[in-house]
Amino acid sequence: MNSIDKNKNTFAVTTPLYYVNDLPHIGSAYTTIAADAIARFQRLRGKSVLLITGTDEHGQKIERTAESRGKSPKEHCDEIAVGFQALWQQLDIQYDRFSRTTAPKHEAIVKQFFQDVWDKGDIYQSQQKGWYCVSCEEFKEERELLEGRRCALHPNKEVEWRDEQNYFFRLSKYQSQLEALYQERPDFIQPQSRRNEVLNFVNQGLQDFSISRVNVQWGFPVPVDPSQTIYVWFDALLGYVTALLDPDSEPTLENALSKWWPIDLHLIGKDILRFHAVYWPAMLLSAGLPIPYRVFGHGFITVDGQKMSKTLGNTIDPVALVKRYGTDAVRYYFMKEIEFGRDGDFNEKERFIPILNADLANDLGNLLNRTLNMARKYWGGKVPNISGQDIPADNTLKVIGSDLGERVAQAYEALAFTQATEAILTLIRAGNKYIDEQAPWTLYKQGKQVLVEQVLYAVLESVRLAAYLLSPIIPNISNEIYRQLGFDTNFNDKTQINVSAPFNIHANWGTLPSSQTLGEPRPVFQKLELLETGSSEDK
Ligand code: MSP
Repeated sequence: MNSIDKNKNTFAVTTPLYYVNDLPHIGSAYTTIAADAIARFQRLRGKSVLLITGTDEHGQKIERTAESRGKSPKEHCDEIAVGFQALWQQLDIQYDRFSRTTAPKHEAIVKQFFQDVWDKGDIYQSQQKGWYCVSCEEFKEERELLEGRRCALHPNKEVEWRDEQNYFFRLSKYQSQLEALYQERPDFIQPQSRRNEVLNFVNQGLQDFSISRVNVQWGFPVPVDPSQTIYVWFDALLGYVTALLDPDSEPTLENALSKWWPIDLHLIGKDILRFHAVYWPAMLLSAGLPIPYRVFGHGFITVDGQKMSKTLGNTIDPVALVKRYGTDAVRYYFMKEIEFGRDGDFNEKERFIPILNADLANDLGNLLNRTLNMARKYWGGKVPNISGQDIPADNTLKVIGSDLGERVAQAYEALAFTQATEAILTLIRAGNKYIDEQAPWTLYKQGKQVLVEQVLYAVLESVRLAAYLLSPIIPNISNEIYRQLGFDTNFNDKTQINVSAPFNIHANWGTLPSSQTLGEPRPVFQKLELLETGSSEDK
């Protein structure tokens, strides 16, 4: 089993490949923002990064949705896939690959993989009887169902009975190898609570599962029996592999796996954990391929404490949200306010608006603004002519800032976005307090030039460090802060960000160049107001 090489210089991260039964919702935006933040962080660190996202387009759910819209499945998928791409652009998601499972090159990969598993003797025919949830695209055990034979995840839909001859994958054969994988690689499934869920499930004994469908046309034909199509999940998971192909290389497994495999991180929601942490590694073991390094299952977002659902009419449209409040605001809220791995709530009036105003407009924005104004007044609009080394070692901001980069880096590595932002906020809040206490306006009047210089430098440098460390989450605000501090860094320039602002320099407190000319002070974040019409206008 492959062990983790912490020093390798590549980092491949995936979002789920989203179903195209509907336009993206806030759940898909949530995972994708997190994936983008981690990709940006790894780039800052100097890694060569591949961020993969895309769409999962086959199966009965999509077939039926297209039909209900009076469109051909292909036409329907093309339309919705564009909707995803547009949202990712609005959210400043810097994805490198957009994998569509209906792509011809994907068919080549699926065929070859199927053949390898077939040759291994891991596929056989048998009768599949059971209750199927089309929305989950998954068979359910009778005991998992709610009253009236409804799926717990889709309580407004009844499951459907299936009794058909299918091709099965020998999952049960991999029971002990999977158990060994979980033991040898305790970090494979995260967080711990999800790992426990998987261990419990596997402990009950694994059963083979069917990987073909008889009455679904919208899928790749089973290579050994074109009267059936391949089960959407068997096909979809391989979408991660297809995504690794260079755009013009021949679609073979060898080519796809040559550079980025094994994938470093699969980011997913908790509802699709079993597919990623049990079925997927077993499929890879069967094909003789190394297993990805990490699967992280995040929690679910509720709205005002309630499950989001179309029936309740409380779904959040991410496009409308970004339009109203801006990209960075949305990114910040979800990364800071919802502890990654746990469920969390979206509440526009009581949490979203107050938190953004407090953190970004008041704490961060005001700190920069007031300090830049003082620098203009007392120092000719330049960084004082001193360096970080000239600030005494016991300076509060220097003390907090000195190991902040390292602490935040560890938090990002662990996907603890809340912890990362909280640590950065500590420095920002200390900066505001420090100015109030030091009162540089008084020091200036008293002619204490050296002290004024130190206060200004310490605060400007703290805002810079905060902006740098927040850049994976709020790249546009960080750009603006850097610009006002006199840099011409662009955190959205993924090809050279680690050259123009390398982590080993910029993540340290005390690196703001002395005498650098500062820019015009301008608010970096406009205070938000709740629109009286509320969120209902866009639903
Ligand atoms: N197509 C499969 C994934 C295949 S990956 C090879 C799929 N797609 S999905 O569009 O239904 O779901 C995508 C992701 O959205 C999942 O990770 C799911 O957990 C997540 N979410 C759906 N609703 C959510 C919330 N309310 N909150 C947070 N994430 C949620 O499953």
